[in-house]
Amino acid sequence: MKDDRKTITIELEGRKIKVPEGLTVIEALWDTGHDVKRGVGCLSGLCGACTVAYLAKESKKVKFGLGCQKVVEEGLNVIMMPYFPSRVAHYLLERMETPLEQLQDIYPELYTCNDCMACNICPEWINVAGVMKAAKGADYETATEHIMDCIMCGLCASRCPKGIAPQHVALFIQRALAKERTFPPNLQQRIAEIESFQFGAEWEKIAAMGNEALEAHCRQREGA
Ligand code: FES
Repeated sequence: MKDDRKTITIELEGRKIKVPEGLTVIEALWDTGHDVKRGVGCLSGLCGACTVAYLAKESKKVKFGLGCQKVVEEGLNVIMMPYFPSRVAHYLLERMETPLEQLQDIYPELYTCNDCMACNICPEWINVAGVMKAAKGADYETATEHIMDCIMCGLCASRCPKGIAPQHVALFIQRALAKERTFPPNLQQRIAEIESFQFGAEWEKIAAMGNEALEAHCRQREGA
């Protein structure tokens, strides 16, 4: 069948290929017969598996992005970034009374950070160096506030000359903070309701419904 789609030329891993316009980097690869499985996950910009480095035509600045989100354009020069293994500390949060006080033991390399900013290549535009600085200075609230959009792709870790894995450090801080905070009252109330099976009978009724009855039930609730 004749393919009427308009094509553009991009350079992939140093090789020029023609691809239909309007596709993402990953779609363009698949469309041109590349069997890309590794480095592809959710295809929704959430899992961080598909980081790419790219250079737009006539630009001198290499940028980083997600292959499942970056749309190809004429003259784009793109490479898929490999996954970089980085150290994940082992810890049992439930056995720690005050986990934030143990950050230095869990991730000692954090304190060797000299703020070189090599880690500021985040495809989600997070100021990773700023997060590490805040973490080092025990300003954990600021650190977690700025890392909210992290998708754990590990690109920042691949650049750190000190072997710090900012994504794992930040995850530990987020978990530790959550453990040390008290739950908001509405959440506490909800958990108590769940634990006491307050809505158990209703759930049992829903679980026993067939598809038709369930659809009718949902429609009824939407209209409520
Ligand atoms: S495939 Fe998950 S972020 Fe691109």
